[in-house]
Amino acid sequence: MRAGWAGVPGTGGLRAPPPPLLLLLLALLPAAAPRSPALAASPTGPSVSLYLSEDEVRRLLGLDAELYYVRNDLISHYALSFNLLVPSETNFLHFTWHAKSKVEYKLGFQVDNFVAMGMPQVNISAQGEVPRTLSVFRVELSCTGKVDSEVMILMQLNLTVNSSKNFTVLNFKRRKMCYKKLEEVKTSALDKNTSRTIYDPVHAAPTTSTRVFYISVGVCCAVIFLVAIILAVLHLHSMKRIELDDSISASSSSQGLSQPSTQTTQYLRADTPNNATPITSYPTLRIEKNDLRSVTLLEAKAKVKDIAISRERVTLKDVLQEGTFGRIFHGILVDEKDPNKEKQTFVKTVKDQASEVQVTMMLTESCKLRGLHHRNLLPITHVCIEEGEKPMVILPYMNWGNLKLFLRQCKLVEANNPQAISQQDLVHMAIQIACGMSYLARREVIHKDLAARNCVIDDTLQVKITDNALSRDLFPMDYHCLGDNENRPVRWMALESLVNNEFSSASDVWAFGVTLWELMTLGQTPYVDIDPFEMAAYLKDGYRIAQPINCPDELFAVMACCWALDPEERPKFQQLVQCLTEFHAALGAYV
Ligand SMILES: *[C@@H]1O[C@H](CO)[C@@H](O)[C@H](O)[C@H]1NC(C)=O
Ligand SMILES: *[C@@H]1O[C@H](CO)[C@@H](O)[C@H](O)[C@H]1NC(C)=O
Ligand SMILES: *[C@@H]1O[C@H](CO)[C@@H](O)[C@H](O)[C@H]1NC(C)=O
Ligand SMILES: *[C@@H]1O[C@H](CO)[C@@H](O)[C@H](O)[C@H]1NC(C)=O
Ligand SMILES: *[C@@H]1O[C@H](CO)[C@@H](O)[C@H](O)[C@H]1NC(C)=O
Repeated sequence: MRAGWAGVPGTGGLRAPPPPLLLLLLALLPAAAPRSPALAASPTGPSVSLYLSEDEVRRLLGLDAELYYVRNDLISHYALSFNLLVPSETNFLHFTWHAKSKVEYKLGFQVDNFVAMGMPQVNISAQGEVPRTLSVFRVELSCTGKVDSEVMILMQLNLTVNSSKNFTVLNFKRRKMCYKKLEEVKTSALDKNTSRTIYDPVHAAPTTSTRVFYISVGVCCAVIFLVAIILAVLHLHSMKRIELDDSISASSSSQGLSQPSTQTTQYLRADTPNNATPITSYPTLRIEKNDLRSVTLLEAKAKVKDIAISRERVTLKDVLQEGTFGRIFHGILVDEKDPNKEKQTFVKTVKDQASEVQVTMMLTESCKLRGLHHRNLLPITHVCIEEGEKPMVILPYMNWGNLKLFLRQCKLVEANNPQAISQQDLVHMAIQIACGMSYLARREVIHKDLAARNCVIDDTLQVKITDNALSRDLFPMDYHCLGDNENRPVRWMALESLVNNEFSSASDVWAFGVTLWELMTLGQTPYVDIDPFEMAAYLKDGYRIAQPINCPDELFAVMACCWALDPEERPKFQQLVQCLTEFHAALGAYV
């Protein structure tokens, strides 16, 4: 039996996974979540309620429901525990509240980054009485536009019932991504027009995009269900399936050959130059073509001159990873002004036998995230390009290194110690990756090679996305040539990228789904028993990777949505952040 089929959970039963927002819905249901009495100072109770109206929830989360924080004096700690992500284009939050008898309140705010966001403004006084009629107050969260930063906002509401000494503290947590005004970034971030696209999911109206997501979750589930049925049929004809595979691979491979031995031969073709990738169509504007390879070494060096530093400032220590021509070192960078100050770094470099094309590729690909600032991105900081020396690319150090290698290590450790890394930790990593990707999407940067191998991690479990320079060399099994001389991460690619060479934020979302799968399987190879030449046909037929053992249905549903055939149907990164954050909170609440 083949393992790579969606809709077949580990148990082998056919079931459609519940929508990923299930857990959030739990919080929205009146009686589902644990609540504790709080405002019971007077025997009858003041009947305080505080909630987000249906309109507000729809605006923020795309769901049709009210979200109660306090309902008739009962506090939902579950609802309060959500650190709600405010869409970056949303500046106002609305809270609805009232009390039946006298309740005094004090309202205060904390913001963790005043450079990025001013103090929130409210249209009620900071201290007073909770209104006796149903009223709305408004909180304004405005970014200053000075820096890029995610801002944590804490709204604190202290309620006092009938002047007693006791009061109840309610903390509402919000997060919002603030961005520098775009003009400045356009010039600093990336100077290549080709690497940006017109498509910008974050600028799209929030209500429609969240609705689209809500609908697409439904569509996804329907698709998964359909796939499951098709699968059941195919199961009965598994003998025929083998013949089918052969004919599909014959039609999909450009040479009309099925090559079972690609795993051993593809490596030889790593990073061979290729000027003209055949591109068959550009159906829409948001598509980017691959033109990395027309750059010469001189041009590549010229592009990084401004971040070049003297080779003397860099000391190489251990080799962390090694390929046939590339290497990653742990390095020490001496401060320019104070020679006693040192910084730890990653140093990517090449061995003597590396070709000019390989060196050019390393330099060009290293610049993918250059100039971007986000806590979940790890862009290049410096290069050494001195005459007669192999170029070196310098990135900040993350002491646990490559995420894929880290996950595989966890897998080994897990055999003896199942608690080595928790599901919640893994989801937290996924959230960080989604945050970084959301930032990239907003900046109109398409990564094109998101995968665990292109992320790094440190001992606080902070994860950063990095570029894919040298990945082809260091993880040769993850890249394949499909007869066009271009070595591509076939198993991470969306169908439209595979077939038409079309890349967009939506194809990055697809790769994110696969990355999430890598996290949940602790670094397994996706579609491991599918021939790379068959991948396109396989995806077209509706097959996807199977639900990992121990992966909750909700999480698998998130992945499956990322693999919708229609790019428009895939969720946006910001929605993924939201969805995973809720799931993360729920894991915490029930563990
Ligand atoms: C104040 O709170 C304490 C413990 O939380 C409780 O025992 C006491 O009855 C409360 N007092 C009033 C007046 O509600
Ligand atoms: C609410 O009460 C806490 C605990 O006494 C206090 O530290 C905080 O400043 C109060 N917040 C507001 C907004 O008054
Ligand atoms: C605050 O603003 C909201 C929305 O703009 C409005 O509905 C509400 O009446 C205002 N409240 C006060 C006290 O002005
Ligand atoms: C408020 O407290 C006073 C005594 O402290 C009591 O007489 C009164 O009934 C209380 N009011 C309410 C609405 O609980
Ligand atoms: C980028 O595109 C704009 C118009 O779309 C053009 O005016 C400009 O010259 C281009 N810049 C580069 C570096 O290609």
